[in-house]
Amino acid sequence: MPRTIAVLSQKGGTGKTTTVRTLCDAFRRAQVPALAIDLDPQGNLSDYLDVPPDAQPTISDVLSGRARLPEAIHGEVVPASLDLAETELMLGGRIGREMTLRRAIADAPERYELILIDCPPSLGLLTVNALVAADEALITAEAQYFALQGTEQAMQVIDVARDTLNPDLHLLGVLLNIADMRTVHSREALGSVRERFGEAVLPTPIRASIAYAESAERAISILDHRPDLGADYLALADELMRRLGGMDDARRRLAATR
Ligand SMILES: Nc1ncnc2c1ncn2[C@@H]1O[C@H](COP(=O)(O)OP(=O)(O)O)[C@@H](O)[C@H]1O
Ligand SMILES: [Mg+2]
Repeated sequence: MPRTIAVLSQKGGTGKTTTVRTLCDAFRRAQVPALAIDLDPQGNLSDYLDVPPDAQPTISDVLSGRARLPEAIHGEVVPASLDLAETELMLGGRIGREMTLRRAIADAPERYELILIDCPPSLGLLTVNALVAADEALITAEAQYFALQGTEQAMQVIDVARDTLNPDLHLLGVLLNIADMRTVHSREALGSVRERFGEAVLPTPIRASIAYAESAERAISILDHRPDLGADYLALADELMRRLGGMDDARRRLAATR
């Protein structure tokens, strides 16, 4: 069974989609087969990964029972589109609504070692579905004033998922993202999150740079566009594999590309 990681935060703009996208690139370098699932109706991940906007079926079709997960894999991604917002409303009225993605993921092809889920910018039913489907949760927080508050809220939803439907859910880490360590804001945010969550906080924040916007615009991974900045994500991928355990060969392969 692939191991599933949900990437979540209580709002948009914390770098979830960039993180999922770039981790997929890093895992590919380490020859770790990874599937990305776009669970955001905005479909940014699908865009980043160059899925044609009219690709069918999508995650909406999977969640509403019109398609099985393997049929919705395009390249290495299960895309989302705006109709996912409607699907979320429809799911709300169903028994077992929190379990829908978990059931769908049971069909994921065995060839994948990891599945990364890119959550929408809220802690609603779709994010709960991701947490019930996942083995691991990765929280992203923008290194700014409200980082601590946002992380606390995401942590509460993880606790609820664990206490109710997914007792095995594990916190993989808290990632401080889009951090400008030259500013007092970013340093304070990192300090307060570390004080509160200790070892759960990933050791290296992802540095802020305008190069991320360029990289998205040109559809070139930051790993290739700016290897000096991409090093943050290679370090992150390595640390996540260390925390996941059992991935030493992949860690060595990744190190060999650095
Ligand atoms: N490290 C970074 N530095 C600067 N900008 C970033 C960084 N990571 C992501 N961004 C930009 O911030 C915006 C939000 O990122 P995104 O990954 O879409 O966040 P989310 O999925 O949480 O909404 C995007 O425009 C993205 O290009
Ligand atoms: Mg996003």
